Amino acid sequence: MRMSIRGVIASAFFAFVSLSVATAQEAEAEYSRAGADTCLGCHDDVKVTSIFLNKHGHPGDPNSPFGEGQLQCEACHGPGGEHAKLSRRGESKPSVPYWGHASTADTAEHNQVCLGCHQKHMGLQWAGSTHDVEDLNCSGCHNPHAQADPVLKTYTQSQVCYECHAAQKADENKPYAHPIAERRMACTSCHAPHGSSADHLLVRNTTNETCYTCHQEKRGPLLWEHAPVTEDCSYCHEPHGSIHPALLTKRPPLLCQQCHSQSGHPSLPYTSTGLADGNPSAYLLGGSCLNCHSQVHGSNHPSGATLSR
Ligand code: HEC
Ligand code: HEC
Ligand code: HEC
Ligand code: HEC
Ligand code: HEC
Ligand code: HEC
Ligand code: HEC
Ligand code: HEC
Ligand code: HEC
Ligand code: HEC
Repeated sequence: MRMSIRGVIASAFFAFVSLSVATAQEAEAEYSRAGADTCLGCHDDVKVTSIFLNKHGHPGDPNSPFGEGQLQCEACHGPGGEHAKLSRRGESKPSVPYWGHASTADTAEHNQVCLGCHQKHMGLQWAGSTHDVEDLNCSGCHNPHAQADPVLKTYTQSQVCYECHAAQKADENKPYAHPIAERRMACTSCHAPHGSSADHLLVRNTTNETCYTCHQEKRGPLLWEHAPVTEDCSYCHEPHGSIHPALLTKRPPLLCQQCHSQSGHPSLPYTSTGLADGNPSAYLLGGSCLNCHSQVHGSNHPSGATLSR
């Protein structure tokens, strides 16, 4: 669990403070006369009006900003009465309180607007999660105006994440990678961006549990296990991509010799005897330990103790 008690208390405190700040601001500010109709008089750009093609713009849903009795545009942007007034030449326009051209609200205050309706979707994980602690605005990932919010779609999601995660973008472009670019999976196949009880925002408690959701055959149980496999797949694999086949962190024999002694199984293709008689070491023929130890993930063969069958 990443979130400490301090985190819980701090986030509850922030929620309280920002709520009271918001009400104070709203008491002074006034809402526009005609709601969305006022706003749309000036903001008729398709980037804005596309909201009517998604769930937020759905008047039939009583909980949506455009449901009966809701505040429409101002449910998210805050009271915009002052902003909506025609300004005289040379006069600067006051901003709407949230996501405006000169909004002064901080991230916690902004997020509280969304959480006002979405706390139940976020569960207990968001408060204190990495993205919360890093002060991400909900709008850092979400675009509530888009007809289809890019971060919710498998084929566009990674582009949103890459805006901040350049290292993973570089990895995904390496010759061996999970098929994210091919749109067969997304970052959320392995990660829970709103928070999780595991390290690295993984969808399951450990790296291995996460991998088993798709690679079930690696779970076992096996008669002869290979210790590092049951412990952590990432000892040998780079989940985001690698220059080595099968997303390996290194190529064998170096991969194996990080942990296994070279005595008896030399790392040089020619041993002293090999050099003398001109024969390369059988242990490294083809450069690999896998020639003989082919069952590197474990074996179910009665005599598979050395993972060779
Ligand atoms: C009289 C025209 C007018 C009306 C009515 C109006 N706005 Fe604006 N709005 C503007 C202008 C002009 C700007 C750009 C201000 C600037 O950049 O100085 C703006 C900026 C914004 C921005 C920031 C956009 C950006 O590009 O940064 C938001 C959000 C916004 N308005 C929301 C609203 C909402 C919500 C309403 C209704 C309550 C509304 N506006 C009503 C003219 C209007
Ligand atoms: C569900 C919440 C929500 C509602 C409802 C909403 N907005 Fe927004 N709006 C946002 C957020 C969040 C952003 C900032 C998006 C971003 O930064 O990518 C935004 C951005 C904008 C912008 C700037 C667009 C740009 O990129 O140039 C304008 C203008 C705007 N909203 C006007 C409106 C108007 C007018 C309405 C009502 C018809 C409305 N909004 C309803 C959340 C909302
Ligand atoms: C007035 C209440 C309200 C506010 C404020 C609000 N939302 Fe929503 N939102 C809804 C409702 C209702 C739905 C539809 C839920 C459903 O159908 O399950 C929704 C749906 C969503 C979805 C899922 C969209 C989809 O296509 O499945 C996302 C993402 C979302 N909201 C993000 C935000 C963000 C980010 C903000 C703040 C900028 C915000 N919302 C503000 C009421 C609100
Ligand atoms: C780091 C990016 C990121 C941030 C920041 C983020 N979200 Fe999301 N959100 C996502 C992704 C990705 C999904 C789709 C999850 C999935 O498909 O498993 C999602 C899904 C949702 C949904 C719809 C699905 C559901 O769980 O019912 C809502 C509502 C939502 N987010 C609201 C919010 C709110 C409110 C905030 C700010 C407090 C926020 N999100 C911050 C990435 C983000
Ligand atoms: C196949 C599962 C999987 C997929 C898909 C995946 N990740 Fe990861 N990610 C992991 C694992 C496992 C870790 C734990 C650290 C490690 O072993 O590298 C991790 C760690 C991370 C970290 C933290 C890195 C660090 O050094 O602390 C970030 C950031 C990240 N992933 C972003 C992404 C993004 C963005 C995407 C989508 C482009 C993505 N991941 C797709 C499995 C995945
Ligand atoms: C607006 C910037 C931003 C966006 C967009 C964003 N992240 Fe992050 N993310 C961060 C920051 C900042 C951190 C903390 C520093 C780091 O680990 O890089 C982080 C950390 C992470 C971590 C590591 C968490 C940990 O506890 O080790 C993962 C995994 C991750 N993000 C996944 C995602 C995924 C998946 C998406 C897209 C759905 C996404 N992020 C979108 C800013 C962002
Ligand atoms: C959402 C499903 C999913 C999850 C979760 C997942 N994978 Fe994969 N993995 C795939 C798919 C799909 C492929 C591509 C297979 C193909 O191209 O036929 C793949 C390919 C691989 C390959 C390369 C196979 C080859 O033949 O080159 C390795 C290694 C791998 N995954 C390891 C992991 C590890 C380690 C994890 C956990 C961090 C993990 N996977 C989590 C779906 C997943
Ligand atoms: C000790 C290092 C090591 C560990 C730990 C490891 N692997 Fe592998 N893995 C390999 C090697 C080496 C290959 C390439 C095998 C080959 O070329 O025949 C491979 C290949 C794969 C492949 C593609 C070929 C196949 O067998 O399906 C997948 C998928 C895979 N590993 C998943 C996993 C998963 C999931 C885990 C964690 C449960 C894991 N690996 C842990 C070394 C390892
Ligand atoms: C992260 C460290 C690590 C890596 C990398 C690793 N191994 Fe292992 N391996 C172990 C451990 C620990 C054992 C269990 C040793 C024991 O039980 O005495 C083991 C056991 C074995 C055994 C069975 C030997 C025995 O005495 O039971 C073989 C064979 C083996 N590994 C081959 C390989 C090969 C081939 C590779 C490279 C593809 C590899 N290992 C990579 C840690 C590793
Ligand atoms: C030509 C086939 C072959 C190759 C190639 C090979 N091994 Fe072995 N290895 C064996 C055999 C056979 C045994 C069993 C020896 C015994 O029982 O005395 C063994 C035993 C082992 C053991 C068990 C511990 C021990 O010494 O008894 C480990 C660990 C191991 N090999 C690792 C590796 C690594 C790492 C590589 C690559 C550098 C490798 N092997 C390459 C055939 C091979």
